[in-house]
Amino acid sequence: MKNNIKIDALRSDLAERVINICPKLSKEGFKVIRIPDDIYSEMYQKTIAAYYLENNIRKEYGADNAIPNENKLDPEVCFLNDNFFDLVHKNPDFIKLHEDFAGINLKPTYWYGPRVYLNGHVLKEHIDHPTTHLIGSSLKIFSEGDDEWPLTFLVDGQRVSVSLERGEMVIFEAVRVPHARPTPFKGKRYFGIFYHYAPLDFNAVASDEYAKLASEYEKIM
Ligand SMILES: [Fe+2]
Repeated sequence: MKNNIKIDALRSDLAERVINICPKLSKEGFKVIRIPDDIYSEMYQKTIAAYYLENNIRKEYGADNAIPNENKLDPEVCFLNDNFFDLVHKNPDFIKLHEDFAGINLKPTYWYGPRVYLNGHVLKEHIDHPTTHLIGSSLKIFSEGDDEWPLTFLVDGQRVSVSLERGEMVIFEAVRVPHARPTPFKGKRYFGIFYHYAPLDFNAVASDEYAKLASEYEKIM
């Protein structure tokens, strides 16, 4: 327990130093848009089929800073029989939505999901990986039950709350802007998918000091 507290302190100290010198790529820090219709419709159908019809579900232990709810339930992930979500990630039009927001050229790095959060889940405030996750997007496929599960973004010291409708996505600066879902999810299931992008030319946007901190982050996060 004592050790955990020490690690938490190290993490928050490092996160603060990372945030302070993170390149600023947008004025607002985040932007909500509709997921392109053709992508969303396939996303929705494939997720429904995988979860409810084919039962392609597994537990995702300790995923992405989620705190298990009081029943100690980890988030679930449904997995698909094809690479549709990977194709979305590498789709030039989809990447461009993120590039337009960030104002720089990006390359796809990671994606997760469809992840299924359950009743009572919260998401601790955190920053993402300083080099591979500079720009991220959180897509709401749909939720069962209560529709509201606000995200908060800490932009230049101000906490802003955002609720997504089904079929919407929020693109955001996932390192400069700490993000969270502080209110326990009141619905039954929330289906989300998450994409991450890095600058095509990292050195063009980041200082040497930032690169140094990023490698420190890798060791303790
Ligand atoms: Fe995150």
